[in-house]
Amino acid sequence: MKTISLTGEDLAELSSERRALLINSLPGYKPAMLVGTASGDGDSNLAIISSHFHLGSRPPLLAMILRPDTGNSERHTLRNILDTGHWTLNGFTLSQASKAHHTSASFPKSVSEFGACGFCESWRPPFKAPFVESAPLAAGCLLREHQPLRINGTHLIIGEVVHLDFLEVAQRPDGALVLDQMALAAVSGLDTYTAPGAGVSYPPASIDSTPQPR
Ligand SMILES: Cc1cc2nc3c(=O)[nH]c(=O)nc-3n(C[C@H](O)[C@H](O)[C@H](O)COP(=O)(O)O)c2cc1C
Repeated sequence: MKTISLTGEDLAELSSERRALLINSLPGYKPAMLVGTASGDGDSNLAIISSHFHLGSRPPLLAMILRPDTGNSERHTLRNILDTGHWTLNGFTLSQASKAHHTSASFPKSVSEFGACGFCESWRPPFKAPFVESAPLAAGCLLREHQPLRINGTHLIIGEVVHLDFLEVAQRPDGALVLDQMALAAVSGLDTYTAPGAGVSYPPASIDSTPQPR
């Protein structure tokens, strides 16, 4: 099979749309989560975000990268998180991918993607952000650190997990979650959704032997 090799200069010469689609595919399969927030006035918002990563377990920290406001686009999720300090992460299944993808459209601030895209809000007072009702995996996060990144103006948002819901059948005896038991969708690039299977899992690696499946 033929391989394509590109230099940094080749990448710089691509149209911005083509470059964005190519570079967005590079991190491989990514977590697809719906981020629920509310404005200070209580207006709810839901947006699909795929840049989540684990930062630490003690305290339990998850981070994500949010794009900045630009002249022609508002970033409601970013603004709401900076205003309230609260957000929810909600997994979804492949059968909900169309509705989840719809949340990435530029709805005006006055329109909640919950209603517009067909998701139901679930509030757990005093938490100041809405959860997606019946999400197979849901976490509530509190803002612990915010870093605008000098390199391209995006925002690193770090949250502590203070609430967690998941299907009981999806937890292994050692505590890990078996994500395929919850039929969680993942995403490739910005447009292709998939539901990974069980895969193969290994015990912690040691230098003495090749890992054998559990
Ligand atoms: C699959 C997918 C993944 C996305 N991941 C991110 C992301 O990691 N960070 C981000 O800022 N926007 C991401 N977006 C774009 C947002 O969903 C989009 O800008 C949305 O309109 C934001 O809504 P808001 O203004 O209500 O926050 C993604 C879009 C799609 C389709």
